[in-house]
Amino acid sequence: MSLRVVSRRRAILWAAIGTVVVALLVVVVLVVSRPTPPHRTPAPAGLGATPPMGWNSWNHFGCDVDAHLVESTADAMAANGMQRLGYTAVNIDDCWMAPQRDPHTGELVPDPTKFPQGMAAVADYLHARGFTLGIYEDAGTRTCAGFPGSLGHERLDARTFARWGVDTLKYDNCNHGTLTTTAQYIARYRAMSDALRATGRPIFLAICEWGVNRPWTWDRGIGQSWRTTHDIKDSYASMLAIFQQNVRLWAYAGPGGWNDPDMLEIGNGGMTPTEQRTEFTLWAAMAAPLIAGADIRALSPDDLAIYSNAEAIAIDQDARGAQAVPVSQDGRPEGAGGLWVLSKPLADGSRAVVLFNSTDSPQTISTTASDVGLRGADFDIRDVWAGTTATTKGSISAALAPHEAAFFRITAGD
Ligand code: GLA
Repeated sequence: MSLRVVSRRRAILWAAIGTVVVALLVVVVLVVSRPTPPHRTPAPAGLGATPPMGWNSWNHFGCDVDAHLVESTADAMAANGMQRLGYTAVNIDDCWMAPQRDPHTGELVPDPTKFPQGMAAVADYLHARGFTLGIYEDAGTRTCAGFPGSLGHERLDARTFARWGVDTLKYDNCNHGTLTTTAQYIARYRAMSDALRATGRPIFLAICEWGVNRPWTWDRGIGQSWRTTHDIKDSYASMLAIFQQNVRLWAYAGPGGWNDPDMLEIGNGGMTPTEQRTEFTLWAAMAAPLIAGADIRALSPDDLAIYSNAEAIAIDQDARGAQAVPVSQDGRPEGAGGLWVLSKPLADGSRAVVLFNSTDSPQTISTTASDVGLRGADFDIRDVWAGTTATTKGSISAALAPHEAAFFRITAGD
């Protein structure tokens, strides 16, 4: 055997070894980068077993908050049927405070003009009517609107909130100074979480750090929900962008910890009726908090009807707590061409299925029962918006207007 043949064989051998090593490396990278469901830490005192439902002042009212607004909003939710459907959280956002802490006690002070009876009186008003009170603070030196922040005052502030009877704390991310490590970043939220637990009052901690440091990877066990994006605006483009970011995080949502794509804009006037219905459909499929960001006292009957779809709410609140998974169509990546199929497994074995045409032209979207994870030969297909039930051998399809989403609950027959 000549020297040249030996060295060529050796070269082939090394090339083969090299290929195997590269292939192994690719496999390792793929496995490591796949989203894996995180370890499920039980929620403290069963907090956040299902996504919260209620109202928040910020998107419609900004800094224009006071006791009358809060109490009249609760009254409106009692009168218009929303409370009975589960909307019981009444959450005051930024700007409820006086500009300075109490000089003697160091405690936070509610703005005396906006909340002349103090915050415990507001909590009493809400609790007496079956609602909960949510309040807002910030893990920095000042809130986003410039009021005193809780950084370094966590224990005192948590005790103050507990004394007032607060049930939810939205905890924001402005004015935190220079933080060099992710651990420092997280520590601010952990400090408030520990302080709230130390009060002995179960207080839902809604972390609002806008998805900057991937809170879905660390927040479970610290808070019960985490904002995944920057603020939603009252437009289809904003709602769609936020959906696209939040939908991919399905593996991280579940009882005790929810992805929060921000408030519902239904009733604020910036989206068409179709787009508003789409927002409700997508948020329910994503097991998102259903927090109305509108003026509840002035909702039109059509907007109220969207908020009041009991079957959509039941899908959002389903005890299994799964967030819908995007399904690929004909081997194309999920959402390719702006056409989405989502499948949310439900506690009773059925599936909620969304067909969403995010494009600006009419489109037909089709999938099958087997592609959305159902087994069987016959299925009941319930249209959540039309309120009608049909049967199918497996094909699921809808002709959709631009920006429209069909919402089905599909159950395998016997
Ligand atoms: C941030 C939050 C908003 C709202 C404002 C209040 O922007 O993301 O949801 O709470 O602060 O200042």
